[in-house]
Amino acid sequence: MDKLYLGTNTKMYKTIADTVDFLTRLAANTADLSRDALELFVIPSFTTLGEARQCVPRESITLGAQNMGWEDQGQFTGEISPLMLREVGVEIVEIGHSERRHVLHETDEEENRKVLCALRHGLRPLLCIGETAQQKAQGIADEILRIQLKIGLQGMDPAQADRLMIAYEPVWAIGVSGVPASADYAQEKHAVIKRTLAELLGEDAQVPVLYGGSVNDGNCEELIALPAVDGLFIGRSAWDADRFDGIIRKVLRRLGTDAGKREE
Ligand code: PGA
Repeated sequence: MDKLYLGTNTKMYKTIADTVDFLTRLAANTADLSRDALELFVIPSFTTLGEARQCVPRESITLGAQNMGWEDQGQFTGEISPLMLREVGVEIVEIGHSERRHVLHETDEEENRKVLCALRHGLRPLLCIGETAQQKAQGIADEILRIQLKIGLQGMDPAQADRLMIAYEPVWAIGVSGVPASADYAQEKHAVIKRTLAELLGEDAQVPVLYGGSVNDGNCEELIALPAVDGLFIGRSAWDADRFDGIIRKVLRRLGTDAGKREE
């Protein structure tokens, strides 16, 4: 993978004012880091997206939405369509985050409709997958990941693979009570995901696979060094712009890229 992907989803936190402040600081903090081989992205709440796009250049920080309806328009009260997201300058759409699957009961079939709809509208789907603690204990994590990919990407044109991103976020690793995956476990599951993507989209498909779930200042270097990990998708530990900047620099230094060396 010739690019490194580092991003955060701010979930149902941060008002417009908070988001603008966060993005402005993050852009300023990271202004010296070349974006040639680094994409920074932030996925804030829907209501913040318009002002979020105005406050920082897209070359500095890519913006994403946390969810999307799967039709262009229609009788879907409460949903946000791809046309609405395009209008405010969103590029990425997060699909199937664990909280949407397990708290709001979304299905693989629904995630699939959203993936196809996002691609149809020139958006970049970030499909989140991951097994629950129970599925892990039952020894069916690999099967679950393969099902989530096989259904989630069903009918996708492999020619569009360069617009797809996957986040592997084990459900048991996410949030305050989450325990981050060990490096060995993360590497093993990322390898399963990469093999499945090659099977579904072809050996040449370049789909970044990001790890998420309790990533923090202490484990980011070990996780990013894993051969099958192409980026990190961070929650809590990235919601302060200085702390996120610290993680970004640690990761870049660990990878030995030029962008990360200025601070040393
Ligand atoms: P966390 O969240 O880093 O706070 O565990 C990750 C996520 O939900 O994507």
